[in-house]
Amino acid sequence: HSLLILNGPNLNLLGLRQPEVYGRTTLADVEAMCHAHAETLGVALDFAQSNHEGAMIDAIHAARGTKDGIILNAGAYTHTSVALMDAISSAEVPTIELHLSNVHAREEFRHVSYIAKVALGVICGFGPRGYTLAMDALVSHLDR
Ligand code: DQA
Repeated sequence: HSLLILNGPNLNLLGLRQPEVYGRTTLADVEAMCHAHAETLGVALDFAQSNHEGAMIDAIHAARGTKDGIILNAGAYTHTSVALMDAISSAEVPTIELHLSNVHAREEFRHVSYIAKVALGVICGFGPRGYTLAMDALVSHLDR
């Protein structure tokens, strides 16, 4: 299988940004962890981050027909972006919505997700480990 892990706005500052919420692990650490896990699973992995909604949409479109699954941490766009939701529908690639934090235990505006409406499932609240949990879930879905 070939997977895309796509991270949205502000996640480039992971490890520095609000460490009391998101921890001290950097996105580079998460990326290294995901590549190591991809090797044990025997899957190909692209790992990307963008602060730009349009660039994220382009990345999701590029996954159409080329990737078997997407893990999407859309950051704050989760709660606002009909365009990202439509991109996932258009790509027709099974997508897991992911968050480091438990968005349901936070502010009300984080309880709304446009991504969840078109996602295979949602993983949140497990910090960086959520990335490898999502990889396992996606691979077991693809192998079902
Ligand atoms: C986040 C949760 C979002 O609400 C927030 O805007 C983020 C990070 C998470 O991984 O916990 O940027 O997606």
